[in-house]
Amino acid sequence: MTITKAVVPAAGLGTRFLPATKAIPKELLPVVDVPAIEYVVREASRAGLRDVLLITGKTKGAILDHFDRAWDLEAVLEDKGEPERLAAIRSSAELATIHAVRQSAPRGLGHAVLCAKAHVGREPFAVLLGDDLIDARDPLLTNMIAVRERLGGSVVALMRVPREQISLYGSAAAELVDDAAVPGLAPGSVFRLSHLVEKPLVAEAPSDLAIIGRYVLDPVVFSVLEDTGPGRGGEIQLTDALARLADIAPAAGGGLHGVLFTGRRYDTGDRLDYLKAVVRLAADHPELGSEFSSWLAEFVAGSPGR
Ligand code: UTP
Repeated sequence: MTITKAVVPAAGLGTRFLPATKAIPKELLPVVDVPAIEYVVREASRAGLRDVLLITGKTKGAILDHFDRAWDLEAVLEDKGEPERLAAIRSSAELATIHAVRQSAPRGLGHAVLCAKAHVGREPFAVLLGDDLIDARDPLLTNMIAVRERLGGSVVALMRVPREQISLYGSAAAELVDDAAVPGLAPGSVFRLSHLVEKPLVAEAPSDLAIIGRYVLDPVVFSVLEDTGPGRGGEIQLTDALARLADIAPAAGGGLHGVLFTGRRYDTGDRLDYLKAVVRLAADHPELGSEFSSWLAEFVAGSPGR
């Protein structure tokens, strides 16, 4: 079955970024001149997912406004003769058909995904975390969809991290899948997963493979989530549901694979990673890149030991 729906959870509290996120969702913080969540919706759109469900919280209005037409602003830009800015504000409304559902309270990522049940129905779907930026040059999501199409079940994105950082992520025991099973992907990039743990102690981590914010899920995940109680931090954890998916028979929609991502990725809900994302994307920016890079080189050269 072709995958057409993407779910973008954006209802978390963003406590790591307070006070900036007191009144503004972290997903709307700009990375240069585009809100983080727009990069995520662009990625879904590029992978052919044109039906996007945003899971929002109390700041729903601002996120939805960003993906809506802004007729008043468009009229002003038209009058002023500013076609590039006009195109920039229109494009976010043209990326996909945007839907929204409100998560009543931030009870965890698993609970946020469960809020998508009525919209998604019985189809496989993708989940893209609204604060997780993946390098636009890497076809990660397309590769994950290819793995689902070949091997069935559900698929997560994996990244190797230094062992001491694994406690920040979900981690999984992984066994390489034969390269011929999914033609076209880089050799050694597809794994069969078992024994998933959310934010494990370093000594107890099943591997150095961290689960990052992209998922392709079989709809059986909804019944599993309905039956998943609060886990780490008192939240309903998606990782706990994934661990159970790995144990369900393929004929019933179970089975879990991972695709290794080796490109650049930024968790914009983390202040340091956010700053790295801004610097990297500013340096690559078509208008600002060259001036910004020269300034940055001077700044670094003039600040020894900083
Ligand atoms: P995070 O793990 O970054 O959690 O969520 P958080 O609560 O938003 O942030 P901190 O730790 O307090 O700083 C990952 C993604 O899942 C969404 C977030 O909005 C983010 O896109 N999320 C998380 C929800 O939609 N609902 C939740 O209950 C929790």
